[in-house]
Amino acid sequence: MNNFEYQNPVKLIFGKGSIAKLSENLHKGEKIMMTYGGGSIKKNGVYDQVKKALEGFSVVEFGGIEPNPDYATLMKAVEICRAEGVGFLLAVGGGSVIDGTKFIAAAVDYKGEPWDFVKNPTLPIGETLPIATVLTLPATGSEMNPSAVISRRETREKMAIGNPKLYPVFSILDPQVILSLPKRQKANGLADAFVHVMEQYMTDNISTLVQDRWAEGLLSTLMTVAPNVLEENPDYDACANFMYAATCALNGYIAMGVNEDWATHMMGHELTAIHGLDHGVTLSIVFPGTLEVFRKEKRDKLLSYAINVLKIQSGTKDEKIDAAIEKTEEFFNSLGIKTRLSDYGIGQDTIDEIVSRFTQRGWNLGEHGIATPEKVKEILESRL
Ligand code: NZQ
Ligand code: ZN
Repeated sequence: MNNFEYQNPVKLIFGKGSIAKLSENLHKGEKIMMTYGGGSIKKNGVYDQVKKALEGFSVVEFGGIEPNPDYATLMKAVEICRAEGVGFLLAVGGGSVIDGTKFIAAAVDYKGEPWDFVKNPTLPIGETLPIATVLTLPATGSEMNPSAVISRRETREKMAIGNPKLYPVFSILDPQVILSLPKRQKANGLADAFVHVMEQYMTDNISTLVQDRWAEGLLSTLMTVAPNVLEENPDYDACANFMYAATCALNGYIAMGVNEDWATHMMGHELTAIHGLDHGVTLSIVFPGTLEVFRKEKRDKLLSYAINVLKIQSGTKDEKIDAAIEKTEEFFNSLGIKTRLSDYGIGQDTIDEIVSRFTQRGWNLGEHGIATPEKVKEILESRL
């Protein structure tokens, strides 16, 4: 096990009716900017619940943050924050709204062009505004982590930032918000959370027994609840388990002391930047290829996953691994997600562009940098 330090300051407020607890967790006095997306919260009652809880507070609203939040949109919010003297940000939405709000928090006091700190993670970000979240879509874990992924359509780029200053102060998670989610977004969320666990678990075996069993528990939970969650009227308990699993998938718990991968995510981000595919879809396409190409490097964990999560008992070790990779792709398909690049009309030219971008950036991704641009090419070509 690697050495590690862990500190996660996010207060989680979880459960039925928890949006009403918003006001008791906010301080009066500061001007709050409430951020949200394209309007789903106005249809499912979340907007009304939040507005009710915010009665008596000084609030300015900023709606219209799109999926894969765009730099140009977010800069409009930054200008408003500066002009109005906003002192606190409240994100009400899924990962895109929360990530966009984290960016706003970092950009308001930034001297210079904020895209610079997105492109160059070594640049210090200075003062940030405090943020809190009301989560409406379990998927990214952004509600309990310090990361954000920002897109810039103008240049077809999508980049991740991470800074301990960007942890939310608190996050409210009411699993009932899942009831209004379209099936496509539930599928995306299940796939995203599943691959988050895999990016931290499916690497080399360095004797991290506690983390591995936690990770396997999360994978198995997501697979167990998926069929019910995808139904039109899922059970509350299935929703609650999905929501908590998605948070734990990317709040740092299972990352302690392990070697992490993240190559699948970086390839996925490019597919979204170039073709606009949903984040969960990109991961479902790429991940089976990552498993196949690195089956030697990930052998111990592939076997552990096959036996402990998928309960594959028969066959040689290699047959178990074959079956595990096949069942992983079947899981994504069972969510209604197609898992081949050709299903989306994507071909060799996109693969060449991604490989060239990674080469220019000098990126060797994955645990121990095993996902070189050559390996990335092999992975993506295996997914045509
Ligand atoms: O915009 P509105 O109208 O709210 O509709 C949204 C959006 O169209 C809708 N939605 C959200 N909650 C709903 C709802 N519709 C009905 N009922 C509800 N309760 O769902 C659509 C997708 O929302 P979005 O926020 O884009 O989805 P998600 O949470 O999957 O976030 C994806 C973004 O997060 C990034 C992704 O790259 C992508 O940009 N990620 C962030 C991470 C992080 N911060 O740690 C890690 C992830 O790996 C990921 O990269
Ligand atoms: Zn993700």
